[in-house]
Amino acid sequence: MAKTEQDRLKKEAAEKAASMVKSGMILGVGTGSTVAFFIDALGKRKDNDGLKLKAIVTTSNRSKKQLEGLGFKVSELDDVDQVDLTVDGSDRVADNLDGIKGGGGALTLEKNVAINSKKIIWIVDESKLVHRLGGFPLPVEVLPISCEQNFKRFKQEGLKPQWRMDSDKRYITHYGNYIIDLAADPVPAPHGLADYLDHTVGVVEHGLFLDMCDEVIIAHSDGTIEDKIKYSLSSMASSTSLAVGIEG
Ligand code: 5RP
Repeated sequence: MAKTEQDRLKKEAAEKAASMVKSGMILGVGTGSTVAFFIDALGKRKDNDGLKLKAIVTTSNRSKKQLEGLGFKVSELDDVDQVDLTVDGSDRVADNLDGIKGGGGALTLEKNVAINSKKIIWIVDESKLVHRLGGFPLPVEVLPISCEQNFKRFKQEGLKPQWRMDSDKRYITHYGNYIIDLAADPVPAPHGLADYLDHTVGVVEHGLFLDMCDEVIIAHSDGTIEDKIKYSLSSMASSTSLAVGIEG
């Protein structure tokens, strides 16, 4: 898909999500190019509709800067009560709404904001959709003190690790750690792999976001916007499509 077309779709999904934000909410705002369109749309809602949020938290300095540039006050996650709604992008979304995130390197704060949110909406263009998780390297944030050991183990496990680079140096995260991207594709047994990574000493966080997302807004190139809601009885009335949470 050409970048201009993809940007058009990202903007459409972002604007739809911005229309769903309500005054009085504590809002979580993610990171990435789709979220950048969402922040722009949020700014317009503030100026044109008088949108007044109770608080905003975000998952990166990039988003924080953009929000502040539009006149929003950004709080720290620990300074707010539970987040009402988080809107974020995703690198891949499977049929059951599990996702791979962290292409922008912000996975650790993204997962912390996500896990403290009552509701999570992802905004994507249709190129992010997959039946089974895969098609994108899985980011794993690791502590520098034992990262070579982690890299070796991942290689032995057949997970095809690669250091994330920033020009000729290793990419450094917001928290001073490295990222190892796992090229195993499709992701073998996502829940099993998440469990393994969750229990690997030296791993700070990984980009498997499983059983977290409630709703995905997908902009399709045929002009339709799909609102895919994780299966629940209360969601059945309002969705344009439903996802059942079964691991593929
Ligand atoms: C950053 C992320 C982003 O949400 C993800 O990479 C999607 O980005 P984009 O909207 O630019 O395609 O997880 O860590």
